[in-house]
Amino acid sequence: MKNIILVGYMGSGKSSVARLLGDRLNAFVLDTDEKIERDADMKISRIFEEFGEERFRDMETELLRSMKDENAGFLISTGGGMPMRPENRKLLKELGTVIYLKASPEVIARRLEHDTTRPLLADAKLLSEKEERIGAMLKLRNGAYTECADIVIDTDDLSVEEIVSVIFQKIRG
Ligand code: S3P
Repeated sequence: MKNIILVGYMGSGKSSVARLLGDRLNAFVLDTDEKIERDADMKISRIFEEFGEERFRDMETELLRSMKDENAGFLISTGGGMPMRPENRKLLKELGTVIYLKASPEVIARRLEHDTTRPLLADAKLLSEKEERIGAMLKLRNGAYTECADIVIDTDDLSVEEIVSVIFQKIRG
């Protein structure tokens, strides 16, 4: 099996889908946020605070570069900002089949309403502020997600189970 890479905005379900799909495919799941946190021995919010977003983005690029030769059997769940750098998009595409889990600002804002782990949304307290911020970011990001994706799945009305079934159909068909 080629590697499968999940991309998409925060709260689009990448980690949950990766876990379930990993079980079903018996594939090794790698979550880039978790790997960066383990390697740095620091939570992402701390990395942002201490070193700034650019350093975190460098860590993401370094991780992708280090995975270049992993060409089979991995299920990779990426941080929501991973596809923003052109170099990362190229590396992601080379790594395997890229699947964009697409979700609307309304659905994402509801899912992340009480989340405290995403530094880029930390100062948007109200649901309406979150939705506005997410909408603005998605406008800037959607093109990058779409550009590197082989498959795009609209996840707004789908459960994690259903998303996994759709992925199965697409990669098997
Ligand atoms: C980010 C998404 C996060 C994490 C960091 C930045 C982003 O990952 O990498 O907080 O820029 O969208 P998730 O998409 O797993 O939440």
